[in-house]
Amino acid sequence: MESFEGRIAVVTGGGTGMGRELVVQLAAEGCSVATCDITLDNVSETALRAEKEAPSGTRITTHLCDVSDEAQVLRFRDEVVAQHETDHVNLVFNNAGIGGGGSFVAGKRDEWDKTFGVCWGGVYNCSRAFVPLLVASDDGYLVNTSSVNGFWASLGPGVPHTAYSAAKFAVKGLSEALIEDFRVNAPHVKVAVVMPGHIGTDIVINSRKILGAAEPTEMPQDELDEFRASFARRGMPADGMSDDDLRNLIGMFGQMFRDSAPVSAAQAATIILEGVRRGDWRILVGDDAHALDEAVRADPHKAYEAGGPGLSTLMRQ
Ligand SMILES: NC(=O)c1ccc[n+]([C@@H]2O[C@H](COP(=O)([O-])OP(=O)(O)OC[C@H]3O[C@@H](n4cnc5c(N)ncnc54)[C@H](O)[C@@H]3O)[C@@H](O)[C@H]2O)c1
Repeated sequence: MESFEGRIAVVTGGGTGMGRELVVQLAAEGCSVATCDITLDNVSETALRAEKEAPSGTRITTHLCDVSDEAQVLRFRDEVVAQHETDHVNLVFNNAGIGGGGSFVAGKRDEWDKTFGVCWGGVYNCSRAFVPLLVASDDGYLVNTSSVNGFWASLGPGVPHTAYSAAKFAVKGLSEALIEDFRVNAPHVKVAVVMPGHIGTDIVINSRKILGAAEPTEMPQDELDEFRASFARRGMPADGMSDDDLRNLIGMFGQMFRDSAPVSAAQAATIILEGVRRGDWRILVGDDAHALDEAVRADPHKAYEAGGPGLSTLMRQ
């Protein structure tokens, strides 16, 4: 799809991060956008920013919708059809996601299920709801955000990462399988899987809030102990730290994740949109994602070994 002008796009999770930047950049090109989030204030702020950049006639609508809930997604779709006075959409960005559900063995099941429900269930529900509207267009593109954890189910040795990885592999699997399905049944529709590396967003802070995690100052001792063990397994010097210092470190972790990233949310959105413009089915975002992809392919048997690719591959970039 060479131009977004005059098209209609749907962006999930448009309240912050890459979703917000996708909305702003699409609108700047004269693409009308319907975007949803679980936080209306954030998505309203996105719309204000997008409207400032958009040529007249571009319509930005905001919607409250939890993508893991099919009834809410169907309501969102009906609102899009009514408010954009349309029988089709051209672009669907399944972007909403959260991190969590690290350990299948020792973690809380509700956190695991919630993470999987948003990261996979959200993509599934929105694809079910919106693919018929893409098929009804004369030129459609489904853009599903997976992650490097969609081809490498790990954050490195010592850090279980099961729910998020399982969901992101599922997103990649559906997207790749749809290439042929669309080719056979709707050749005017394309699909892309987006696999970002480390991008500077508030995903760590947002995910902790969404999962109802305790503030570090109020964290019970057993959770604090688990953090200490997890940091130590990542090679961080947490063993000798006082509880207060550890609580501070946990409190700062989300900001550190955001501020140390090699690629900003705006740069990531630009890379994603360039990939869509080129017609790519596979969009890696960031040098770290490219390096990890090469490392896993070069020696798959080592992918989960201590000497294989790990956080060091990501952090070296
Ligand atoms: N930031 C990274 O390093 C990174 C790396 C790889 C993949 N990703 C993926 O990129 C996507 C965007 O993440 P981001 O980094 O911009 O994070 P973000 O937290 O800034 O944005 C995600 C948005 O999704 C919204 N959201 C969460 N749960 C939702 C739900 N149930 N329904 C609707 N909206 C919901 C959040 O409120 C937030 O506005 C996610 O799918 C994430 O897994 C991020």
